[in-house]
Amino acid sequence: MIIAIDGPAASGKGTLAKRIAAHYGYAYLDTGVLYRAVGRDVLKAGRSLEDVSAAAEAARSLDISTFDDPELRSTTISDAASKVAVIPAVREALMQMQKSFPQGKSGAVIEGRDIGTAIFPDADAKLYITASLEERARRRFAELAAAGENITYEAIYADLEARDLRDQSRVVSPLRIAEDADLLDTTKLDIEAALFAAVRLIDAAMDRSKCAFG
Ligand code: CDP
Repeated sequence: MIIAIDGPAASGKGTLAKRIAAHYGYAYLDTGVLYRAVGRDVLKAGRSLEDVSAAAEAARSLDISTFDDPELRSTTISDAASKVAVIPAVREALMQMQKSFPQGKSGAVIEGRDIGTAIFPDADAKLYITASLEERARRRFAELAAAGENITYEAIYADLEARDLRDQSRVVSPLRIAEDADLLDTTKLDIEAALFAAVRLIDAAMDRSKCAFG
């Protein structure tokens, strides 16, 4: 069973996807971490984020043991991730890792920008999680302030706006709603209400998927 969760930055999809995975007892993959790690490694190597071969090389040699690095959540790395994410060779290098994740597992919840459209177009359930830009900026501000980052609400708002635009306008696998995805707007929902709504949508989609495949 594969559940694909996509949506724009800070839409609450990370928290929600983890709770959905716990609810169904499925494995969870945050694909944003892969792009963040590539951005971090390119910067660490002193290379430009537009350097296609440096970024592709970083994507091919990712070290899973560094994925819990708290620096990955910083605004600098968020911005770097969305810059390397426009490079087709980076997306290509990360594709196999994502596609093989569900192998040998009873189910997987996979979260990102192109999971329902490009990585798992045949997922059993697809959710597109969104929220207003103001609400997303408010949530990310609270998260980063709690982590000790010295940043203003206005700077976060501008960063999210720029990343949304970059994610939606790139040529390869842009962020968009899959035709068969269910849309969930969490602007006015707290996490429990969002989880309740998500589980209802997923249960219905999984029933449809079982019927379709007998
Ligand atoms: O947590 P947040 O929603 O802010 O970001 P994220 O999911 O960790 O993703 C960071 C960046 O990686 C995004 O802005 C995208 O540019 C890129 N990304 C992508 O292109 N495709 C994915 N499947 C996941 C992330």
